[in-house]
Amino acid sequence: MGVQHSQAWMALQKHCQDGAGQQHLKTLFADAHRAEHFSIELDELFLDYSKNRITEETLSLLIALAEQQALPDWISRLLTGDVVNDTEARPALHTAARAEGEDVQGVAAEVQADIELQLQKMAKIVDKIRSGHWRGFSGKPITDVVNIGVGGSDLGPLMVTHALQTIESPVNLHFISSIDGTQTSNLLNHLNQETTLFILASKSFTTIDTLSNAETAKDWLEEKIADSQTLLSQHFLGVSTRPDLMSEWGLPEDNQLLFWDWIGGRYSMWSTIGMPIALKVGMDGFREMLQGAHLLDKHFGSAPMSQNIPVLMGLIDIWNINFLDIQAKAILPYDARLKYLPAYFEQLVMESNGKSVNRAGERVGYKTCPILWGEVGPNAQHAFYQLLHQGTQSVMCDFIAPVERDDFKTDAGTEKDHSLRYQHQLAMANCFAQSRVLMLGDAAIPESIKAKFDSPFKHYPGNQPSNTILLKTISPKTLGMLVALYEHKTFVEAVIWEINPFDQWGVELGKLIAKETHAAIKDVALSEAFDSSTQNLIKRIAK
Ligand code: F6P
Repeated sequence: MGVQHSQAWMALQKHCQDGAGQQHLKTLFADAHRAEHFSIELDELFLDYSKNRITEETLSLLIALAEQQALPDWISRLLTGDVVNDTEARPALHTAARAEGEDVQGVAAEVQADIELQLQKMAKIVDKIRSGHWRGFSGKPITDVVNIGVGGSDLGPLMVTHALQTIESPVNLHFISSIDGTQTSNLLNHLNQETTLFILASKSFTTIDTLSNAETAKDWLEEKIADSQTLLSQHFLGVSTRPDLMSEWGLPEDNQLLFWDWIGGRYSMWSTIGMPIALKVGMDGFREMLQGAHLLDKHFGSAPMSQNIPVLMGLIDIWNINFLDIQAKAILPYDARLKYLPAYFEQLVMESNGKSVNRAGERVGYKTCPILWGEVGPNAQHAFYQLLHQGTQSVMCDFIAPVERDDFKTDAGTEKDHSLRYQHQLAMANCFAQSRVLMLGDAAIPESIKAKFDSPFKHYPGNQPSNTILLKTISPKTLGMLVALYEHKTFVEAVIWEINPFDQWGVELGKLIAKETHAAIKDVALSEAFDSSTQNLIKRIAK
């Protein structure tokens, strides 16, 4: 029987039909203390979830659904290394990767030893590069490190190093991910073979995007380096679960960093995949990020559901998606350092929960993952906020912002410092104003200018639910907390939907068909096997 026929689900359906689903968000704010009741703080992270269309009764019914779905048991199964990824018969132990040697209940000691061993090996390499002792073929220190990877082998390091861009680093970090070669050609036109080191990051070590970019990088190095052993030992590192394939490719063992199949690709920045982060902020900074995530893990594993931040966020989105029928979610960071956060969450959430078959292999009879996208909030206000305010789509929004800009001097400083601080204040004002208007709609229009909005074209329905997450600052620690929060929120939703968030069978067929299509582009005769559209497209390319 699907969860939608369960007692707890039907109680929520009744709650929705009895009025909770029709009540406008603005009416809930008649309670002057609403925000206090629906806000929660953990260390340097604050969540205001009051602008959701929920009451205490809604929450208690959602928690009853979580209990019915045995969420607490699932949480402890996740954290203690149970086989929660059943279709691949694996645990999902990204939490062990950041436990920092602290004994993780249920996780074998040798697993924890392996994790620490690889982090130590990574630390040695990172320190050697950052201190200038890693030399290129001509004896010069490495100045530029290029991470070649895609998806979970790119987005985490890319997002975090960009978010921490104001932290001085002795080396420049670059990222090549797309198969088309644009990033590769741009970068290689500007870099110097003598001082450039590549990280070949690929969990499977079979991803054509990454391997083709790596071959192009190798060809570029060969323009200056005749000896392949020198080329590989001094200008390439590898990060993968496949030491056999890394060795086959030519990577010396000393240059190979490992992680394991029980770390999902989109959950892997805590492992050696996170090396670019450590190169950017040093191992101390990297470990601070791990500690931030670990703090969230301990909270997730111990806080009662009514005080558990990932549980609350996950359950509220279940209410939005499955009872209020809201099928879109916008991630809106109000700080351009978080430019890549939406892209990171797109993979984390939609590759985890973009599924329609439950753990028993049956097609589900309800909606699962919404369409998730996002953009730096202030910029998005000049791009798609029109739809949020006056479109026909209901959209859930997550506003994310730092309370302090520790990269802007907070003391008196120069006029520039004043104006930068002023800009941060403007960003915060816009962040809070937008969630207010999305919630209140027309009720947000000040009396003094109501006449100006007296037009059917200037009507604001409001009632769009949102969360606002405030981080004390943007730091390795708060980034670790934020990402772990969304990882666990995603897991909470998967448990309610009875789906496996840790596999990704949906990405395999496209890759296979691309191989056939590539062969037909090289030999057009083969395109006869395809539909007329694909045939025509191939023939145009072939010309
Ligand atoms: O195709 C999807 C995917 O497998 C992601 O899950 C993964 O993060 C990405 O491709 C890259 O895979 P790999 O790290 O094995 O190269």
